[in-house]
Order: sequence, then structure tokens, then C-alpha cells
Amino acid sequence: MSELRFPDGFVWGAATAAYQIEGSARDDGRGPSIWDTFSRTPGKVQAGHTGDVACDHYHRYADDVALMAELGLKAYRFSIAWPRIQPDGTGPVEPRGLDFYDRLTDALLDRGIDPIVTLYHWDLPQALEDRGGWTNRETAEHFAAYATAVYGRLGDRIRTWTTLNEPWCSAYLGYGNGVHAPGVRDAGAAFAAVHHLLLGHGLAARALRAAGAEVVGITLNPADVQPANPASAADAAAVRLVDGLQNRIFLDPLTGAGYPADVLEHVSRMVEPTFIRDGDEKLIAAPIDLLGINYYSPTYVAGRPDGAGGGAYPGTEGAVEFLPSTGSLTEMGWTIEPAGLTRLLERLAADYPGLPLMITENGGAFPDRAGEAGPDGGPGQVVDADRIAYLDGHLRAAHEAVARGVDLRGYLVWSFLDNFEWAEGYLKRFGIVHVDYLTQRRTPKSSARWYQEVISRNGL
Ligand code: FCB
Repeated sequence: MSELRFPDGFVWGAATAAYQIEGSARDDGRGPSIWDTFSRTPGKVQAGHTGDVACDHYHRYADDVALMAELGLKAYRFSIAWPRIQPDGTGPVEPRGLDFYDRLTDALLDRGIDPIVTLYHWDLPQALEDRGGWTNRETAEHFAAYATAVYGRLGDRIRTWTTLNEPWCSAYLGYGNGVHAPGVRDAGAAFAAVHHLLLGHGLAARALRAAGAEVVGITLNPADVQPANPASAADAAAVRLVDGLQNRIFLDPLTGAGYPADVLEHVSRMVEPTFIRDGDEKLIAAPIDLLGINYYSPTYVAGRPDGAGGGAYPGTEGAVEFLPSTGSLTEMGWTIEPAGLTRLLERLAADYPGLPLMITENGGAFPDRAGEAGPDGGPGQVVDADRIAYLDGHLRAAHEAVARGVDLRGYLVWSFLDNFEWAEGYLKRFGIVHVDYLTQRRTPKSSARWYQEVISRNGL
């Protein structure tokens, strides 16, 4: 295959999230989050797994950062656990929580790794959920206050601030179909959550900017929605509906166009959107410098009056059939289709011009098998050729978008470590570094060595 080079200064890195790797769920004053509660509720997470210990990154961060440096990562995207900073979600700040991220930030900077912060990767303080969580408008204001507190401690060293990770998941999986914490199933609650998440983003973005933040952004999981039959008008209508619920409902207000009329009309069939107040859309449109894109797999839909719809897409029952995954799949059952990434990036660049993009997550879960144990009993090599193929394909797809003019600034692999994969617990492994959960031993997989090469050549 031909050699590909990425633009000079292209950011290469890896991503994680607090609840998925840190463990130490009770240490240093951390309050409970909705994921502590949810993972303890029988039947919600595979095998009853919780994030109590996870990868014990809270104690092992220094070694983890040393390994990132060995692999040549230029950037590391991590999230801050709100319940470590404000155990009750509001009020006094817990300095020991901030101390941890302070140490982590310094360790990264010492090794020349650029920290990219996500302020909210799904671990809402339980005390706020007890008052309605993201269905309560006040949560948006509390989020901005929390963001300001974190910036106050780390703003002198961290350039890139992202507010939310995938608000689609927080709203629709958290409050719509209940597959994620807090496990609510209510279409109206899901839409209220969409709005308050966006409002929280806008308020936090404004506060961060006012405090002096250099780069402010948000990470979404926009979908590459495709029709089952490109010639079918019914399928085109299904694409438009799903695109509205997953993409335009976030992107249009974020970029100043307000909520799309067709989406508001759809929402109004399920709930009177009285939670949207005058002036909110202006607040949501606070300028951003970077849009983070998490991409894993495309979405194929057909328009059918008997369509089962998708629980995570309220109101699509009786209108949309989501096609089952086909072709080669990851262990999550997700279709592997790198071309979807090129299509998505080009579409975003065309419809939302002038917004620099970064792939803040991309990767695959595969049934990694550790080879024969090493002499000291540790795992041998983990040869993950399928992950390398996945990453290679998606990097080529990203490069194709760059070649066609998309302003793509970087690529962060999901994930640096195997970790707690939400409702799947520890059963799905996304890491380029293998974690033995009994010993907490880290073993770079073949994909980590391959990625190290990619980074050092700035290409494939
Ligand atoms: C994304 C999440 C991330 C991880 C990957 C597999 O939706 O942001 O935490 O679980 O999926």
C-alpha cells in the first residue's frame, strides 16, 4: 500500500475517561456518581462489574504516563471526575480531587504530552441526579460552576478544554432507553436532557473563555447515517429523521443556527419543549474552536411504517428500521466501515464550515488473546492484528478526508488502556495496551507498537 503522510503538527494521541480507568471510587473525598449507583444495580452492567478498581490509574498514573511517553503519544485526552471535585455536585471544592489532576497534568507536561481535558464524560454526581440530573435546568448552571473551578486550578497549564463527551449518549442512553446511567426510560426526559446538556456546554464554554481558556470545544458522536436503498424516498426520510435526532439537534444549535424546525416538530409530538427558554439558543451558540468527533461505525436505516425504530431514537418506532450490522464486525457487533469516517468528516466540513475537527475517539474491541505467559508469569505478547487493521483502515479514511480538504487537526485512539466499557463491564477490550485486571500489569499490544511507528513517521 502507498505511503501516507499527515499534515505537519498533526496531533497523535490516545483517550480514556475517568470512571473507566481511575478506580479509587471512594478515595480522597470523591462523592458517588450515577455510574457507581448504576453499576451496583443488579442487571445493569455485565457480570456486575463496577468502576471501583478499574485500571487503578488513580495510583498508577505516573507509570501510565511513562508508558504513553514510551509510545510517543503527543497528546492524551482524559476526563475529570466531577464527583472528585465537588462530591455533591455543587458547593465546596475538594482540593484532594483537584490535586490528582494537578499531578497528572504535570506528569504529562514533564514528558511533553499535551493534556486534552474533557470536563464531563458521564459521571454525574449522584446528588445532582437525586434532583433530576440533566432533566433539571439547574444542572447546567452547576456544570459551568464546576468547569470554572477546574479551570481555576489547571488553566495555567492546560490549553484544550472540552466540555462534554457525547451528549447523545448521556441524554438518549441515560434518560431515553436506560441502557446507561441513570437508567431512566422516558422520551421527554431524554429531550430535556439534550437541551440542558447543550445549555451546560454553552454556559461552561462561555465561562472558560472568560477565564482565559485558549481552545474550547465539545466532543460529539455524530453518525454517518446512510439509507438502505439510496433510491428510496422513504429511506431518505428515515435518514433525515435519524440525522436530525443524532446530528442536527446538537450541531445546529452549537453553531448558531438554533434547533432545526423538523426536529422540534418531531420532539413536540412526544413532549412540549417548555424547557427551551428564550435566549437559550444564543447561550448554546457560544463560539467553539474545536469539534471533537468520536466515530466507530456507520448507521444504516430504512423508512418503514412497521419499523421497530430504535430505543435510543425516541419517536422512530413505526417509521424507521435500523439495519442489523453486516460484514466484518468488532466484538461490540459494530460494522467495520472506514469509508463512513471519510463521509462523516466531509459532511461536517461541508455543512458546518470553519470548524476545526479532531477525531477524539476511534478504535475497536476485539477478543484479544494474550500469548504464552512470559517467564515471570505475566502475559506474553498480545497480537491484535484485527485492531491494527481497524486502525489502519480508519487512519487511511481520515487521511482521505484531509486530502479532500477537511481541516482535521488530530487523531486520538480509543483507548490507551483496556478499561470499564460501561454496560459491557470489563468484557470488552478497546485498549492498545492490555490490562491484566488481577495484577494491574500493563502490556502494550502489537497495535501499540504499530501506533508508535505511525506516530514517529507521522503517517502510514
Ligand atoms: C464511546 C465512549 C467511550 C467508549 C467508547 C467505546 O461512546 O465515549 O467512553 O466507551 O464509546
